[in-house]
Amino acid sequence: MDNFELTKIAGAVLAALLLIFGGKTLIEMRSEGRPVVVGYALPGGEPAAAPETNDKAAAETKDAAAVDGKMAEVAAPADGKADAAAAPAADGGSDIVALLVKANADNGKGAFSKCKSCHVVEKGKASTVGPNLWGVVNRPKGASEGFKYSEALKAKGGEWTFENLSAFLRNPKGYIAGTKMVFAGIKDPAEEADLIAYLATLADTPVPLPK
Ligand code: HEC
Repeated sequence: MDNFELTKIAGAVLAALLLIFGGKTLIEMRSEGRPVVVGYALPGGEPAAAPETNDKAAAETKDAAAVDGKMAEVAAPADGKADAAAAPAADGGSDIVALLVKANADNGKGAFSKCKSCHVVEKGKASTVGPNLWGVVNRPKGASEGFKYSEALKAKGGEWTFENLSAFLRNPKGYIAGTKMVFAGIKDPAEEADLIAYLATLADTPVPLPK
């Protein structure tokens, strides 16, 4: 086998591993709302029996770490307030009514860019990765026509009140263990209130905000 062939094989193996572990890591990191860490501790330089295998392993390790690093950036909250806001997240929603009084739906529309990769909001438009969010405020949970919800979400019951939305958006997995919404959560309560105020406008009759 010449070098070129080896490179190709190594490349194929790497690509497969990255797909598997990279994807899994991303999902785990995002869902736990605890970015970074995973993947850095891999030992890179330990001598192994066959030098050829060792080289490959080392290359894989390095590459995996690099990818994890990138993903950590993606998953990390932009404002860096994750830790500060982590405590109130547990009972999320209790302060949302007060926050909504000062909320700004226009800002929320901007913040919705975080959701756009998975959600459409236009009335009647087919759902994408996540359900269409037109009219989601006060809608029964799991009620977007034709969307295949997780069992966990379907079993949750009730409606998407401001409080429930807030609890969910702060910590999706914390509010519905087993939800398939892979999103770390909004860590800034004011931003979250803006976002919910925006969601409230997405209806034939917008849901009035608390005054
Ligand atoms: C990576 C994709 C993804 C992102 C990003 C995402 N969501 Fe979701 N969302 C989903 C999926 C998938 C579901 C369905 C969850 C289930 O069935 O457990 C969902 C469900 C929901 C629901 C429940 C709707 C219903 O009909 O019951 C709401 C509300 C929601 N998302 C709001 C948001 C908001 C607001 C954002 C941005 C802050 C956001 N999501 C970001 C994928 C995503």
